[in-house]
Amino acid sequence: MIHIRQFAWPDYADVTKVWKSAGRDVLPRAELAAKLVRDPHLFLLAEHDDIVAGVVLGTFDGRRGWILRLAVDPAHRRRGIARRLIGELENRFAALGCPRANLLVMPDNVDALQFWQTLGYLPLPDVLCSKPISTPTTP
Ligand SMILES: CC(C)(COP(=O)(O)OP(=O)(O)OC[C@H]1O[C@@H](n2cnc3c(N)ncnc32)[C@H](O)[C@@H]1OP(=O)(O)O)[C@@H](O)C(=O)NCCC(=O)NCCS
Repeated sequence: MIHIRQFAWPDYADVTKVWKSAGRDVLPRAELAAKLVRDPHLFLLAEHDDIVAGVVLGTFDGRRGWILRLAVDPAHRRRGIARRLIGELENRFAALGCPRANLLVMPDNVDALQFWQTLGYLPLPDVLCSKPISTPTTP
């Protein structure tokens, strides 16, 4: 049975395992702690028969929802786990009054592009631009 719920700190090792199994970067504890101050109810995991099998990190900036770090352990794919995670995240975005959710996919990640389009997330022509910002804590 698939069960979707909010992340709690005792899940961190299991979530890390899922990210690694799916080839995704692991969010360090300090970054995660900063995120959880804002919207902890948007960081979700999926348990399949009590095993953590999937994870997604949602954020809401007050205007748009962002979907980050979606991953499902390869041993648990094509069972609808990612679909259930995103469905629950969308419900939570809707409850916050968030009218649109965005995400980034690498252009060569064909499987993920297929997945997102199946769920109605369509590519836009915008190009991601990025710049590091120095902060008082930057080493
Ligand atoms: C993309 C990913 C999260 C999908 O997880 P999943 O739990 O297997 O997906 P679901 O079972 O919920 O798939 C729902 C539907 O999406 C589509 N889909 C999912 N994976 C697909 C694939 N590899 N190829 C084609 N279509 C796919 C199918 O229509 C599927 O429905 P179906 O199985 O009934 O045909 C998973 O493959 C993964 O973790 N990939 C590596 C990490 C990654 O790329 N994350 C996304 C970065 S933006």
